[in-house]
Amino acid sequence: MAERLKVHVDPDKCQGHARCKALAPELFELDEYGNAHEVGDGTVPAGLEDKAWLAKSNCPEIAIEVTEE
Ligand code: F3S
Repeated sequence: MAERLKVHVDPDKCQGHARCKALAPELFELDEYGNAHEVGDGTVPAGLEDKAWLAKSNCPEIAIEVTEE
């Protein structure tokens, strides 16, 4: 069975670079200050796992955590 992933943005680390939103708009949204939050509870829909890892590796602030459930 494929692992299920969750994404989480650490609000203390996020500086609003928005690369996560550009790379994985299904998984991240920006608030009025331009800081990112995971969509919903952060559960990554099937098929979007690569985007979760891509967003994590492209955040300059290392603010994105990807966890396996
Ligand atoms: Fe923030 Fe990193 Fe995205 S700094 S807006 S979580 S690319």
